[in-house]
Amino acid sequence: MAESAVPAPLDNDRLLRALLREPLDRTPVWMMRQAGRYLPEYRKLRQQAGSFLALCQNPELACAVTLQPLERFPLDAAILFSDILTIPHAMGRGLYFAAGEGPRFERPVRTESDIRALPVPDPGDSLRYVTDAVSLIRRELCGRVPLIGFAGSPWTLATYMVEGGSSKNFALAKAMLYGRPDLMHQLLEKLAQSVTSYLNAQVEAGAQALMIFDTWGGVLTPAAYREFSLRYAEQIIAGLLKSRGGRRVPVVFFTKNGGPWLEAMSETGADALGVDWTQDIGDARRRVGARVALQGNLDPGVLYAPPDVIREHVASVLEEYGHGSGHVFNLGHGIHPEVDPEHARAMIEAVHTLSPGYHTT
Ligand code: CP3
Repeated sequence: MAESAVPAPLDNDRLLRALLREPLDRTPVWMMRQAGRYLPEYRKLRQQAGSFLALCQNPELACAVTLQPLERFPLDAAILFSDILTIPHAMGRGLYFAAGEGPRFERPVRTESDIRALPVPDPGDSLRYVTDAVSLIRRELCGRVPLIGFAGSPWTLATYMVEGGSSKNFALAKAMLYGRPDLMHQLLEKLAQSVTSYLNAQVEAGAQALMIFDTWGGVLTPAAYREFSLRYAEQIIAGLLKSRGGRRVPVVFFTKNGGPWLEAMSETGADALGVDWTQDIGDARRRVGARVALQGNLDPGVLYAPPDVIREHVASVLEEYGHGSGHVFNLGHGIHPEVDPEHARAMIEAVHTLSPGYHTT
């Protein structure tokens, strides 16, 4: 892989310091889905590009969209504009987005021969548009804030591949998990290899922190979570590049509705855990101790309320987490498309104003 130009030093490294639980002046803040439909400038670029996938697959446009929320708000991180489903697409499953229906695959994965035939994609080839976007974003950021790369967890990717899209009951994925666990493991093993090399390619292209999205781990039983989700997250994290350019590349592992399993998640080798809003982040901190940092966990629904209410809820999350480093302020899941951008600003500004009090020595 080509070495990118010598990167500028970081002006604002609060995100990386918080993920490593190093001392700070205030709590860093970014938002899951911070580039997206709630921003009029995003909707405009998407319309010009023709589709969401066209934005993802064009490095210049993906870079422009990544930077949009940073031009509006004083955020402490950029996150690559892409999708978790780029991997199954690169495995030949034919990703498309049907209007109003979310993601779909032309060729779902249902049988033993489907799984046997799946390639482990070479990120330098069929996912080159992603690594090109990462290098370009790094160049355009000029060291303002760190860039987060990401991928889906094998289990979450497998649900979309087996179901052929989003699902309510995960009928086909669970039929395979319980009826043919051997097949599900073959699929998860290929996905774990693919995710590992994809994330490492993002690091080589310039990603400075990584996040693994396990959006659907929370629909599993405790035993199935350990066997079909956690174990592969652990395998991936063990295979990741630990540092680049002399700086550690921290990894955030997020299982939505994974609250019951935070202790086990804190043993995967991740530097930090994403926490959704169903947990008190102070309880989460007491449970994981000093093993990992935490990222979260304002209910994205709070952003429907007026700014003064938003400030009160930001204050509560900061108070629950309490004194000291190791907290990255975020929503507990992605920002909703109907949210007024000024309400996102109220959240971000409240973190800037209220969090320094938690970092005095
Ligand atoms: O956080 C960011 O700003 C980075 C960009 C990002 C997107 N998707 C852009 C996107 C990230 C990190 C993702 C991850 C992703 N994609 C997940 C895991 C995180 C989560 O939300 O749980 C999942 C499950 C997907 C799969 C996916 N992609 C779905 C279910 C959808 C449709 C959802 C919807 O809101 O309609 C997408 C499309 C998608 N990915 C959009 C964006 C901005 C909306 C596309 C559009 O309509 O313009």
